[in-house]
Amino acid sequence: MQRGEILNGLRESDTDRLADLWRRADRTRRRYVGDEVHLRGLIEWSNHCVRRCAYCGVRADNRRLTRYRLTDEEVLDCAKKAVGYGYGTVVLQAGEDPELTCRRVAGLVERIKTETDLAVTLSLGERSEEELAAWRRAGADRYLLRFETSNRVLYNRIHPPKTGQPSPAGTSGPAECNDRLTILGTLRHLGYEVGSGVMIGIPGQTYDDLADDLALFARLDLDMIGVGPYLCHPNTPLADRDVWPEAPADRQVPATEEMTYKVIALTRLVCPRANIPATTALATLNTRQGWEEGLTRGANVVMPNLTPMQYRALYEIYPDKACIAEEGESCHRGLNERLKAIGRKPGRGQGDSPNYLRHLAADGPPAAAGVDGCLVRLTGKN
Ligand code: 5AD
Repeated sequence: MQRGEILNGLRESDTDRLADLWRRADRTRRRYVGDEVHLRGLIEWSNHCVRRCAYCGVRADNRRLTRYRLTDEEVLDCAKKAVGYGYGTVVLQAGEDPELTCRRVAGLVERIKTETDLAVTLSLGERSEEELAAWRRAGADRYLLRFETSNRVLYNRIHPPKTGQPSPAGTSGPAECNDRLTILGTLRHLGYEVGSGVMIGIPGQTYDDLADDLALFARLDLDMIGVGPYLCHPNTPLADRDVWPEAPADRQVPATEEMTYKVIALTRLVCPRANIPATTALATLNTRQGWEEGLTRGANVVMPNLTPMQYRALYEIYPDKACIAEEGESCHRGLNERLKAIGRKPGRGQGDSPNYLRHLAADGPPAAAGVDGCLVRLTGKN
């Protein structure tokens, strides 16, 4: 798919042509990843974070937030719930929390992998190569790190550097320079199934930027792609429109439900074998039908929340998050009904990305950490 075609899709407003886009995306989804909807149990491990991302409610500077961190036993209990519900994967997500040390995460991953048959996905922010390698050795299967936007100027504005680190050099130059893209390359070399994605409708994000994001999904050859609307959190710098203006009205991407469907559908067309979730941010815009609409316009994954109820509202990356009021059990039962209603069924097994499996078959076993913890890097195909 050419970039021009992507751009036209993003700007499409004709009802018939949009219906055609939804149909094409749904057909492509069925052909490449099938009718199963893979369920990933989301465990929000900790809302402590040392970073100051301008859009995120759990950023270090938000002093109004009560911070929590689950014990390893609590995380393990959630993982066992996932097994009970028949899920094949748990996603351990947290802010960049220094208390989640290399050793602690590795230890917990190892326990989950020994005590269950679950695939483990980590989403713990920008972490060092050593940590990522150690967690992979401990058995972690997948890693999620959204690059948020491929526009480097915008990226640098919304991602202040870690305290004590120099600000990123220059603001021009290839998008590939941003730290998260480097980390995505590292994850690939380590043999992880690699997931990334963007927010839709960040103030200042243009249609051209978003078309570049989609082209980058394809170039990165991502195994998992999560996209969701930007939702304004009042206790963040991005909520201040005087400081963070939108792009001119004809160029600014709206953070709407329909735009999210367009991005899901186009993502399916450019990365047909990727696993694509109907995200919680989308369900937040449309609690009643968001998941279903996403799943019939290209998505094939849902991530039900398994975080213990008393902490759920505290993982407030944006306000009014969907599924904060529903206990795992009832959320789970409701979901099965909802899938049946759209003629889909819950996935069995771990639900690896067909994109990843295809590479595995073509390239042999992925790079692994070698003797003494040194990285063995496979070069060439990929
Ligand atoms: N609105 C929408 N998505 C957000 N995220 C963080 N803050 C917001 C927000 N205000 C998303 C980012 C991040 C993921 C974990 O949550 O894309 O990568």
